Amino acid sequence: MSEQKSSNQMWGGRFASGPDAIMEEINASIGFDQKLYGQDIRGSIAHANMLVKSGIIASEDHVKIVDGLKAVLAEIESGKFTFSRKLEDIHMNVEARLAELIGASAGRLHTARSRNDQVALDFRLWVKEELEKTASALKNLIEAFLERAEEHAATVMPGFTHLQTAQPVTFGHHCMAYVEMFGRDLTRVRDAIERMNESPLGAAALAGTGFPIDRHMTAEALGFREPTRNSIDSVSDRDYALEFLSVAAICATHLSRLAEEIVIWSTPQFNFVRLSDAFSTGSSIMPQKKNPDAAELVRAKTGRITGSLVGLLTVMKGLPLAYSKDMQEDKEAVFDAAETLELSIAAMSGMVRDITINTASMKKAAGSGYSTATDLADWLVRELGMPFREAHHVTGRAVAAAEAKKVDLSKLSLAELQEIHSGITDAVFDFLTVDKSVKSRQSFGGTAPQEVRRQIRYWKKRIVKA
Ligand code: ARG
Repeated sequence: MSEQKSSNQMWGGRFASGPDAIMEEINASIGFDQKLYGQDIRGSIAHANMLVKSGIIASEDHVKIVDGLKAVLAEIESGKFTFSRKLEDIHMNVEARLAELIGASAGRLHTARSRNDQVALDFRLWVKEELEKTASALKNLIEAFLERAEEHAATVMPGFTHLQTAQPVTFGHHCMAYVEMFGRDLTRVRDAIERMNESPLGAAALAGTGFPIDRHMTAEALGFREPTRNSIDSVSDRDYALEFLSVAAICATHLSRLAEEIVIWSTPQFNFVRLSDAFSTGSSIMPQKKNPDAAELVRAKTGRITGSLVGLLTVMKGLPLAYSKDMQEDKEAVFDAAETLELSIAAMSGMVRDITINTASMKKAAGSGYSTATDLADWLVRELGMPFREAHHVTGRAVAAAEAKKVDLSKLSLAELQEIHSGITDAVFDFLTVDKSVKSRQSFGGTAPQEVRRQIRYWKKRIVKA
């Protein structure tokens, strides 16, 4: 272990020697929090602008600080900046470089501020921007589904419960179920942004400051609705990160269910969809194979995102107010989940757009498994005035008869049906086909093509403003 000991530039007054290698390794966050450089510098410029306006720093210092911060930003953006682990984190890396560039004036920037409110600010800004990106990615995915739903508003497929054929539905209706799910995710994203839209800057270490700062000014300059109201909470709170991860975990769970359906549908046994070459792979040994790798990976990546949520909940659990260094562990969880979610949504949007729908297989499957049994029961209720429970019973006998003959319900003869119930007429056959079945389900939110088209119209209007 290297025993290089040098006094830390920032608190050298109090500590005679610098952290040893292990301390540096466990303590430093620059390896990951350098991602926050843009937010950190923006926050510092807003802070400096406020300090000069409030008469806390002189305008010569202000000019130097702002120019210096812009120079640091340019260095980082052009890849010329050297991040140092000795300087722990992004905040001290930026400030130390500022001091190298402008000298003593740099020391005035941290007036009325602490790294505690600084990091709370930087991370909030980052999470807020990420939520905005998630919103537009979700909109894109929803639009992909709306296109497919429109195209397949009348395409019949089997609907399942327990993954057993239940009743015929339309593929467009199934697509619109995902639109509802991702639509709710989108509202959760918007809600999270609304709730976190408060600036913690100016809370300082935890108690506020004696300097006459203007927190409303910095909040506005940084695009927040208002400043946070309690300085202790401002530096303790990581709810916004937890909310981002919760939203991400729910969304990833939705993506995973979709991924699973694509995996099932693309098997030769189902043969409902064909994946594009772009989102599948072949096998190195079995030439016939086309594997849904992208869908499988989206399904799997849900584990990482949910893991990040559980990880940060566990970090925050039991932490006393206000700031504790434990909270530095918030960033990797959120960064990883954000990157993973972005990639997963993009992969799914691509798959939804590219996938070929095998309408013939879907229709064939829709008619098997006595999927129109409920339609027969409903007919008995409607036409013969039978109570539903009795109709259920009669239909059960018809299914048993069809099963014994190894034919579909619609292939039983009228005589055979009449043996089960004498009141049945040949008008019933009209209701035993899958197309009739889906067309009849016009209840609000139901699977009838005209109802699906109404849902599509609703979402097309709503998505513009979402
Ligand atoms: N790197 C730290 C973090 O991410 C910044 C805040 C440090 N504050 C402190 N009092 N040591 O949480």
